[in-house]
Amino acid sequence: MGLFISMEGPDGSGKTMQMDMLEQDLRQRGLDVLRSREPGGTAISEKIRDMLLDPANTEMSSRTEALLYAASRAQHVEQVLKPALDGGKIVLCDRYVDSSLVYQGIGRGLGIPAIEEINAFATGGLQPDVTIVLQIDFEEGLRRKGRQNGSLDRMEAQKEDFLRRIHDGFTHLKDLDPDRVFLIDGANPPDEVFREIQNVLKPFLTGL
Ligand code: TYD
Repeated sequence: MGLFISMEGPDGSGKTMQMDMLEQDLRQRGLDVLRSREPGGTAISEKIRDMLLDPANTEMSSRTEALLYAASRAQHVEQVLKPALDGGKIVLCDRYVDSSLVYQGIGRGLGIPAIEEINAFATGGLQPDVTIVLQIDFEEGLRRKGRQNGSLDRMEAQKEDFLRRIHDGFTHLKDLDPDRVFLIDGANPPDEVFREIQNVLKPFLTGL
């Protein structure tokens, strides 16, 4: 069995940059890495992603949204994640079930238990070995996001109170699974953030 690492955090937390640094670091150590993202990672999951993020889909209900994220994940687990882990790879995944707990469970108010249940079905119970949650002050996250060019997708275009609930929700993940989830301050300079990530991962990587 390989090692399943997931990375979580709100918009503007620096998640993509840290994923890039981590992927490069693991590959330089000669480890066999599979990097993927959710929603996405397979042709079917990417089609579901397009539906989820299309700003034109303003009428999508919260339950539909939660089920589509779970459906995209089910395909991803079966077609990509499980085979990679069974093949002994290190899987590095940008978002996973925890994003659904936060965005749909807390943000949409569907509740943690309902989201856990549909995702247990979708994933067959596959959980990350370790999850890094990058945290960033809400206003700082918005400022960083504002500096990026491009139009907003359907989730980014949500009202501020939703985005605030998401932001606070990420901190809650640690309470739900303290042994698996590690909160890291994304406000520090990128090199410092990366050193902290390396420290968290060290015990998981020894012997690989
Ligand atoms: P993406 O562009 O991948 O966002 P980011 O670069 O911030 O990771 O878009 C994914 C969006 O979908 C993001 O706003 C978070 C949201 N999301 C959910 O609401 N539920 C989920 O289960 C997942 C995986 C993502």
